Amino acid sequence: DDPHVTQPKSTAHILPDAQTVTSVRHWTDGLFSFRVTRPASLRFRSGEFVMIGLLGDNGKPILRAYSIASPNWDEELEFYSIKVPDGPLTSKLQHIRPGDQIILRPKPVGTLVLDALLPGKRLWFLATGTGIAPFASLMRDPETFERYEQVIMMHTCRTKAELEYGRELVENLRHDPLLSEIHGDDFTDRLVYYPTTTREESPFMGRITDNLASGKVFADLGLPAMNPAEDRAMVCGSLAFNVDVKAVLESFGLHEGANSEPREFVVEKAFVGEGV
Ligand code: FAD
Ligand code: A2P
Repeated sequence: DDPHVTQPKSTAHILPDAQTVTSVRHWTDGLFSFRVTRPASLRFRSGEFVMIGLLGDNGKPILRAYSIASPNWDEELEFYSIKVPDGPLTSKLQHIRPGDQIILRPKPVGTLVLDALLPGKRLWFLATGTGIAPFASLMRDPETFERYEQVIMMHTCRTKAELEYGRELVENLRHDPLLSEIHGDDFTDRLVYYPTTTREESPFMGRITDNLASGKVFADLGLPAMNPAEDRAMVCGSLAFNVDVKAVLESFGLHEGANSEPREFVVEKAFVGEGV
């Protein structure tokens, strides 16, 4: 009855790390999210990433880093993914359906964890594109709201459709009866959402870097300018975005921290791509 015996030789070695897809949702031609079973032994801190993948045609695993988008209390794991047309992994991964298996190496790591930040008043999540994934985890973790009075989610994409995954997530969170019970009726004020587009008209426009540097976001939200006494930030986007936003945060007097040395902000790449 050993399932290994009936497996082709090439897939046998990945079986211990196989997980089953439970649902898939396509948001745009270039974006989808999916949920998989969670290995019973997998513990992670909200905001961390793991290696996931599929078997390639040659029988070797194609593995890539993926932020876990679900919170650590969830019994399943959620991921939010790009579809790169010629991407070795995502050209295949975009076709998964419930019941399919993916490979998941259960070794979570990452810098976007609450322990890498000093205590403060407000926590800013700054993301472009699929960089919202780790914040989809942290937003749904009650510990985030135990540590900070207010969480501000700034998410920027080219178009409105690309914001939809995050918009729906925030909407659902704000109407979650359990969270309202825990945090009171003011939960809308505790989770502030500031989505912007850069290449399509929408209520709020512009790059995160520009909206921070100009002070527009502080004026729009009625908040004081970012300062090292009260504000903490987590950053996840393209390398160019990360570099530029880091300079803006430093201009407000915030310093980059790490797991080993908590400070005022932390940064992680949403993907490895062209440089600045
Ligand atoms: P690859 O050969 O890996 O990438 C081809 C090119 O596509 C890259 O050079 C880059 O220019 C572009 N690209 C890759 N990923 C993205 C992206 N997410 N957004 C925009 N352009 C991209 N990807 C996700 O979709 N969701 C995640 O949660 C996620 N988390 C990551 C966490 C970390 C720490 C890192 C380093 C990467 C993460 N990625 C994530 C990127 C992911 O690892 C893969 O690069 C992506 O799945 C594409 O794989 P691929 O084999 O199809 O193409
Ligand atoms: P823009 O349209 O002005 O380039 P991409 O799809 O290229 O990964 O970009 C996702 C979002 O991040 C876009 O809205 C884009 O704005 C924005 N963006 C890209 N690079 C930077 C950067 N260096 N600083 C701030 N925002 C950026």
